[in-house]
Amino acid sequence: MFDLAVYGRVCGGPKSWVSVEEGMIVRVSRERAGKSAAEMVLSDSQFLMPAATDLHVHLRDFAQKKKETVETGTKSAIAGGITTVADMPNTDPKVDSARMVEKRVDLLRSDSYTDFALHAGAPDSPQEVAKMHAAGAFALKLYPPELGGFHELLKETSRAGMKMAVHAEEFALIGTESAPLAEGVAVRKILQQVGQRSDVRFAHVSTADGASEIARARRIAGRLTMEVSPHHLFMDEEMADKRIGVTKKVNPSLRSRSNSAKMRRMMLRGIFDFYASDHAPHTVEDKFQGSPGFPALEFSLPLFLTKTDDPELVARMYCEAPATYLGLRKGRVRKGYTADLVVVGRRDWKIDPEKFVSKGRVTPFAGETMRYAIDHVLKAGKTVFDGRRVTKTETVLVTGRPQKSSRGGVSR
Ligand code: NCD
Ligand code: ZN
Repeated sequence: MFDLAVYGRVCGGPKSWVSVEEGMIVRVSRERAGKSAAEMVLSDSQFLMPAATDLHVHLRDFAQKKKETVETGTKSAIAGGITTVADMPNTDPKVDSARMVEKRVDLLRSDSYTDFALHAGAPDSPQEVAKMHAAGAFALKLYPPELGGFHELLKETSRAGMKMAVHAEEFALIGTESAPLAEGVAVRKILQQVGQRSDVRFAHVSTADGASEIARARRIAGRLTMEVSPHHLFMDEEMADKRIGVTKKVNPSLRSRSNSAKMRRMMLRGIFDFYASDHAPHTVEDKFQGSPGFPALEFSLPLFLTKTDDPELVARMYCEAPATYLGLRKGRVRKGYTADLVVVGRRDWKIDPEKFVSKGRVTPFAGETMRYAIDHVLKAGKTVFDGRRVTKTETVLVTGRPQKSSRGGVSR
């Protein structure tokens, strides 16, 4: 007897029965297989896909509860079909020591609705890197002012078996007339310093130039990966300016229309590894004071589906690839994978920030019509979103190393 069986189309594929036991997908077949304690039958306008893993999320909390809390941010992720998030360390206070990593893990353990992974920030002393890893951080994240320490810190992360993520923009060029070149310049500098086995992820790549440099380097050296964010693919500076004026600020900046068109073509050629929201919520007042970033968790999956009409591509870039990167058996609707699943409905709705669970309100995507909606979310086979309410289940800290499953032996 299975715990649950879901019947419906899987992404663009045929209708199948997906059977779940103890939180895992144990069977996917065209024929119904045995009995289940519960059954979910999708309508013809719905399909099933894996839940998403978002590698780039600012959950705030600590002294910035006005902007977002771990609770509001992760609830917003669940409502958006995302069951695993990787938190960023530029909190107040920063997560840049083993002690702060421990504190952050404690907070996430008690308040998070999603599974979570942690980036640690650049520490005062390089010796702290391994300790931050031992305390639970899977990666080190460097911001533009810290890129001078890249080489030394990369040695530490490599030694500790930890990943590195970089915001690659030449600090001195940000905000100048040469701002669009800042990324290419920083990327080239970093690429000169990576070795054959360096595990470096380029966060929110925003220019076609930066992306092609990384793609070229990737063929010869290292485990280099790239994220691309919704606003750099599907928004440009001019359009955002018309829609939200001075509050359009984000790091890296929005670029030209021709750049985002190029980025979309590159995406279709498979240049980017991961789609990541860079969910960066601020209060409306802070946005008018110049704070960079937008909330996105609640609509980034529907937006990606709407703009591409390609559930397989979305599942690869937003579910399977980021989960694999984190060492998780998640992100595919397949036997042996965790039953983190989303029922997507083909129906129209409008992005309305006033209705967000997130505390962030300012996004240039406000008012856009989505043609896909998140109807239901399962996490380890349990309902965590029924289309209206988000509910809490057990969550785990993701350390980036392949994990043992609860039933022993099998890595998940
Ligand atoms: C980030 C934030 O708000 O934390 N903002 C953003 O625009 N991505 C910080 C940053 O990357 O500068
Ligand atoms: Zn960010």
